[in-house]
Amino acid sequence: MDSNKEIARIVASNPAYRNIIERTSVRRYTTETVDDTLKEALCLAAMSAPSGVNRQPWELIVVDRRELLDALADALPYAKMTAHAPMAIVVCGNRERFLDGDDATLWEQDLSAASENILLAAHALGLGAVWTCLYPHPDRMEAVARVLGIPEGIVPFNLIPVGHPEAPHAPMDKWHPDRVHHNRLTD
Ligand SMILES: Cc1cc2nc3c(=O)[nH]c(=O)nc-3n(C[C@H](O)[C@H](O)[C@H](O)COP(=O)(O)O)c2cc1C
Repeated sequence: MDSNKEIARIVASNPAYRNIIERTSVRRYTTETVDDTLKEALCLAAMSAPSGVNRQPWELIVVDRRELLDALADALPYAKMTAHAPMAIVVCGNRERFLDGDDATLWEQDLSAASENILLAAHALGLGAVWTCLYPHPDRMEAVARVLGIPEGIVPFNLIPVGHPEAPHAPMDKWHPDRVHHNRLTD
C-alpha cells in the first residue's frame, strides 16, 4: 500500500480530518467583527472536550470590548496581536472543580483539550485563532486577572485571540515518521 497516497485521499475526502491537518496559528485579522453565534459555537466546542472524571473545570471569558482587548495586548508581551483582534477567549480553570492528589494537575490537560477544540472550531468556521500562553507565568496570569477582574479561585490559563484571517495560511509540515514508534520504543 502507498500510505502517502492513502493519507492524501483521506485528507481530500474527509473535511473533519482535513480541518485538523490544515489548522494553523493565525495572528493577523481583518477588522470584521465575529458574529455572536460564532462566539457561542467556539465556546460550545471548548466545552465538548474530554476532561478527567468529567470535571469540566473550565470557565470561558469572551472578550470583545476594544478597551479590554487593548489593555490585554498592552499587558502581555506574547499576545500583542490581541490589539488587532475583534475578540479573544480567555480559557480559565475553576479551582472548585480541580481534582486532588495525583490528579491535581489534570485540569491543565482538560483546559488544553478545550483550547485545541477552540482552535479547531475557529478554523472550521473560517476564523483564525492562536493559543497565547498565560499559565504558568504568574506575571501574565496576574495581568489578565487585573484587566478582567478575575478572582483568586479562577486561574487564567491561556488567551486565544480570534478573528477573520487577513490572508490564507499554509500549514507547516510537522510530520515526523521517525517519532512514531510501534510497540516497544526500543524495538
Ligand atoms: C502551550 C502553547 C503556548 C503558546 N504560546 C504562544 C504565545 O504566547 N504567543 C504566540 O504567538 N503563540 C503561542 N503559541 C502558538 C505556537 O507558537 C504555535 O502553535 C506553533 O508555532 C506551531 O504553529 P501552528 O499552530 O501554526 O501549527 C503557543 C502554543 C501552545 C500550544
